[in-house]
Amino acid sequence: MDIDTPAHGVPSPLLTSADLAGTELPNRIVMAPMTRLRADTSGVPQPIMAQYYAQRASAGLIVSEGISPSVRGQQYLTEPGLFSEEQVAGWTPVTAAVHAAGGRIFAQIMHAGRNGHPDNRIDGGQPEAPSAVPLTRPLHTLDGKIDPVMPRAMTTADIRAAIDDHAAAARAALRAGFDGVEIHSANSYLPHQFLADNTNLRDDAYGGSPTAHARFVVELTEAVADAVGADRVGLRIAPGNPENEITEADPAPVYRALLSAVDPLGLAYLHVTDNPDYPALDDLRPRWRGTLIGNTGEHEATTRESAERLIRDRRADLVSVGRPFISNPDLPERVAAGIAWAPIREKNFHYTSGPRGYIDYPAAREVVAG
Ligand SMILES: Cc1cc2nc3c(=O)[nH]c(=O)nc-3n(C[C@H](O)[C@H](O)[C@H](O)COP(=O)(O)O)c2cc1C
Repeated sequence: MDIDTPAHGVPSPLLTSADLAGTELPNRIVMAPMTRLRADTSGVPQPIMAQYYAQRASAGLIVSEGISPSVRGQQYLTEPGLFSEEQVAGWTPVTAAVHAAGGRIFAQIMHAGRNGHPDNRIDGGQPEAPSAVPLTRPLHTLDGKIDPVMPRAMTTADIRAAIDDHAAAARAALRAGFDGVEIHSANSYLPHQFLADNTNLRDDAYGGSPTAHARFVVELTEAVADAVGADRVGLRIAPGNPENEITEADPAPVYRALLSAVDPLGLAYLHVTDNPDYPALDDLRPRWRGTLIGNTGEHEATTRESAERLIRDRRADLVSVGRPFISNPDLPERVAAGIAWAPIREKNFHYTSGPRGYIDYPAAREVVAG
């Protein structure tokens, strides 16, 4: 099959161009952020990561794996960071390779909060969180599973420091050649821990009412937007996502308060993971004037059909696709040519080191030629 010949092209709403803060995206498929743990134990990106991301540069936009803004935000030792000059230097060839292949890439800034562990930090420090509420399930380290530890409740000085760290990491991201940054306020990470009920028991300005639960994320987003420009900042949320023992009994008032504060900032985008218990996309769509990226894959893995439905029904402007991008590096070309998406062969290589399960999935044209 000749995938370059338009006569074979299969029409798809995913393949129409879109505007993202003044940049034209060739398609509406966003590669979702996926932690892959291929950095070294100092959080320095390795050359293999340039190859991995460049293979996937035909995405309308790539959002990188979660990147730690500081030692205090580290989740894993081999997670990349953006808090040392060596890390910035390690990222530079990654972003250059994506740009050389015609792509665009945002850096996802991810602070672990209570999901951290002394054994997963360069400095062996205690994790910090909105409140001293520990996880109960074991955590992964390079040496195997380990029991969680009690996180330290953040002081207002800690909160200020975490916000400053995110702003500094955003500036570092731009120095490293990223086109923008995504604040990871989803999937149980520190900002989500402020938004949620069970992880935020504070009775100061950062806890209690819906507005107070949203305050940390609002201040964080404002600071990052001030640091690099709102049009280079995206915000990811996953209201009601129970990952890592998060509970949100009534997400709507908190997320509505959040959006009423951040919608006027003019961010590049809002990235929303939908949830059957609280249909966030439908509730928040009318409250967001900017670009909306939708993801429906947390409960049922994204398929070509689900992605197309999301765009066709106008529930989102762009759709983020995670796991299928692991096994289909050239996903937009496969959509254009009507080629079935290859399944992931070996899930246990998601978080290992080395090339296997990482850069060894072929593009469709290689399979056809071979
Ligand atoms: C291996 C793996 C790592 C992930 N790491 C992150 C991450 O670092 N940051 C994040 O926001 N989401 C992360 N996710 C969630 C994905 O971005 C996405 O929301 C999820 O996989 C559902 O979409 P899908 O069905 O298209 O894969 C990860 C998912 C997978 C499978």
